[in-house]
Amino acid sequence: MTVLITGANRGIGKALFDGYVARGTQTFGTHRQAEDGAMLQLDVTDAASQCALATRMKDTSLDLLVCNAGVNLDQGQKLESGYPSAMWEATFAANVAGVFITIQSMLSNLRLSETPKIAIIGSQLGSQTIASGGGYIYCASKAAVLNLGRNLAADLAPEGFGVGVYHPGWVRTDMGGSGADITMQESADGLMARFDALSVETTGCFETWDGRPHPY
Ligand SMILES: NC(=O)c1ccc[n+]([C@@H]2O[C@H](COP(=O)([O-])OP(=O)(O)OC[C@H]3O[C@@H](n4cnc5c(N)ncnc54)[C@H](OP(=O)(O)O)[C@@H]3O)[C@@H](O)[C@H]2O)c1
Repeated sequence: MTVLITGANRGIGKALFDGYVARGTQTFGTHRQAEDGAMLQLDVTDAASQCALATRMKDTSLDLLVCNAGVNLDQGQKLESGYPSAMWEATFAANVAGVFITIQSMLSNLRLSETPKIAIIGSQLGSQTIASGGGYIYCASKAAVLNLGRNLAADLAPEGFGVGVYHPGWVRTDMGGSGADITMQESADGLMARFDALSVETTGCFETWDGRPHPY
């Protein structure tokens, strides 16, 4: 089995990278700044960087692509005066277009697998049902990427792909903060079990890290 995880230099992505390495899986990660061994350079918002990754991975069969890289830039913004357009652009470039373009870049690699899977790290904040207010840019980006995952699931099902979207929990990372509920390890262990269970039969799912169906 071969796995590629975006944003694997820290946070949940690093915990997933370490988890797959510990399992003995052939594991590639991406790092925005540097390339070192199995850690490949990728800025998901940069077309040239995406092309370079596709070239680097050429002819490598990929069983699981984990689109984990993401940003949360609008914490603390005020509805009356905040949420500038540049923040919308940067967030959607990473959290939505970045996910789509990474999947596009890796599609030919995934098609070499007999059981191709795409796991998108979304968030409970992308749920239309929860919609608890605030964080307009981040929430909208995670709603968009949930929609993206569901449409890709429909398009890629005839080819046997499993495409899932996952809420990783509220995790103690730079993004989640020190007061969050669970450790990176707990989140990664749960997510890896979810990815194991993902298949064309369960494609289009939106699940929590600990295996509960998430309301859309
Ligand atoms: N932590 C939580 O409680 C929580 C809850 C729900 C969902 N999530 C989601 O889980 C995922 C991981 O979150 P985290 O908590 O581990 O965040 P994190 O600690 O802030 O790490 C984010 C990772 O994404 C990378 N990244 C950001 N922009 C990128 C870009 N343009 N190109 C390539 N890599 C980029 C970062 O790279 P650099 O080091 O270069 O910045 C870093 O490796 C995100 O999609 C996040 O939205 C997290």
